[in-house]
Amino acid sequence: MADKPFLTDIKTLRERARKHIENGAVTEGYVGDVTTAVKILNEALATEIVCVLRYKRHYFMASGINAEGVAAEFLQHANEEQGHADLIAQRIVQLKGEPNFNPDGLLTRSHAEYVEGTSLVDMIKEDLVAERIAIDSYREMINYFGNDDPTSRRMLEGILAMEEEHADDLVNLLDDMH
Ligand SMILES: [Fe+2]
Ligand SMILES: [Fe+2]
Repeated sequence: MADKPFLTDIKTLRERARKHIENGAVTEGYVGDVTTAVKILNEALATEIVCVLRYKRHYFMASGINAEGVAAEFLQHANEEQGHADLIAQRIVQLKGEPNFNPDGLLTRSHAEYVEGTSLVDMIKEDLVAERIAIDSYREMINYFGNDDPTSRRMLEGILAMEEEHADDLVNLLDDMH
């Protein structure tokens, strides 16, 4: 351990920072694979966009005796998924990639599905399934980024925590319906 230097010396750090300044936040010390990072983040972006669309559909289609409170929850989730999409798109640009907003292939890139559902209970169940898919796929992405890209990892950790809240909200709504 003694011969393993903990930090790069200051002179080297300063010299490296001056090279390829056009890469902005992506420095020589970025040990991750930027192409893979952007691809993964574009899948997360597609997942969030599909979730926005599904929650919006459910918000406008919610009807019945319990509809008002549930619709409000759908709308809140839709807005939060939009916030996640924006964070992810911003990070992709920081990594010098391009956020993919192309509707063509959106559902293929997304991990979560777009299911319209008929009844209110159906909609809640489908949203819960989608959240559970997002939770597992973001957890894997977090493991992938690890210490190679702590910024992308921390962003996804924040998003994951909110997807867990969403899943918890939905399961409570389902309980209330019975
Ligand atoms: Fe989300
Ligand atoms: Fe969510």
